Amino acid sequence: MSVKNNAETDELYNSPFMRACRREPAPYTPVWLMRQAGRYMREYREVRDRVSFLELCKTPDLAAEVTVTAVERLGVDAAIIFADILLIIEPMGIQLEFEKGEGPVIHNPVRSALDVERLQEVESVESLDFVMEAIHRTRRALRPNIPLIGFGGAPFTLASYIIEGGGSRNYVHTKTLMYTDSGAWHSMMSLIARGLAKYLNAQVEAGAQAVQLFDSWVGCLSTDDYREYVLPHTRAVIESVKTGTPVIHFGTGTAALLELMSEAGGDVIGLDWRVDLGEAWQRLGDVAVMGNFDPVSLFANQDFISAQAKRILDRAGGRAGHIFNLGHGILPETPVDNVIALVEAVHEMSQR
Ligand code: CP3
Repeated sequence: MSVKNNAETDELYNSPFMRACRREPAPYTPVWLMRQAGRYMREYREVRDRVSFLELCKTPDLAAEVTVTAVERLGVDAAIIFADILLIIEPMGIQLEFEKGEGPVIHNPVRSALDVERLQEVESVESLDFVMEAIHRTRRALRPNIPLIGFGGAPFTLASYIIEGGGSRNYVHTKTLMYTDSGAWHSMMSLIARGLAKYLNAQVEAGAQAVQLFDSWVGCLSTDDYREYVLPHTRAVIESVKTGTPVIHFGTGTAALLELMSEAGGDVIGLDWRVDLGEAWQRLGDVAVMGNFDPVSLFANQDFISAQAKRILDRAGGRAGHIFNLGHGILPETPVDNVIALVEAVHEMSQR
């Protein structure tokens, strides 16, 4: 390997985002934003005018293009590969569609033990090669100080889509299966966890520096339910990730679950905006933290945005291991200029 490659590896390893994942001091607080490549951005909408969402995910050149464009336009400190948490359910035998303006729709949801038995084991993630190819191309196109994050849905959030057939308000089908047939539930969760282990490690192999597990909807569970029905499976996925690759463990509505999420694992715990970052970090102990900025604040004026960002930075108090992010993804109508202003404000206010 050439000297240049070694220098590039060092630069990645020592980038502010990677240092923060390891709870090492950084020259400023690294910032990136969930859903940073999305409909709020004109460049993204122009690509989407030509291809459907799934086609975009499955075309490595286009996925790489929207990933890199978002990083360059916003000046953020990390990239997240353009893909979707639901891609992995296709090789499980689930038929996935994204209907215009309606989000994901699954035509053969799993509702019974018999349906669970029909789920296919993900023996190989070859059918998801387009994601690995997109990672490969993105890594080559990114500057060497910008880490690339791979990701997957956590077992509970994926199970909720597979069972409900789409988004849900009360998770009635999901909880009913969990409460009435715990054998089928655990069997489904461990099948998902085994698939995720292969998928996340393939993304690392392809060139991702860190991975994130999105447990977006786990906040609908009680602490007892989380401990019994979710924790062992999420833990199995996190433990499977190649040593040395930071794992970000993210959820929303998780104020009651933070200690248990941390027990399940993760080098970095993602927080939504409902908790006080200082208090949450104290409860979590020896981990890095990410998130906490309310994505709806981005609709206000830039003075307000800057003041909100300062409150979060003050609560982090300059401690090593803070990654600035939103508490959930950027919403489609968000003004791009406000997003850029947020990134600039975080960089400016956190210079050390
Ligand atoms: O953060 C990024 O920039 C990377 C890309 C990314 C997408 N989805 C692109 C996307 C990531 C990390 C995801 C994860 C994802 N997907 C989650 C977890 C994160 C979260 O928000 O909680 C979930 C629950 C999904 C499932 C999903 N995908 C839903 C519910 C929807 C519809 C919602 C919507 O905004 O329309 C999607 C579609 C989706 N995934 C879009 C994008 C940019 C919008 C698709 C479009 O272009 O129309």
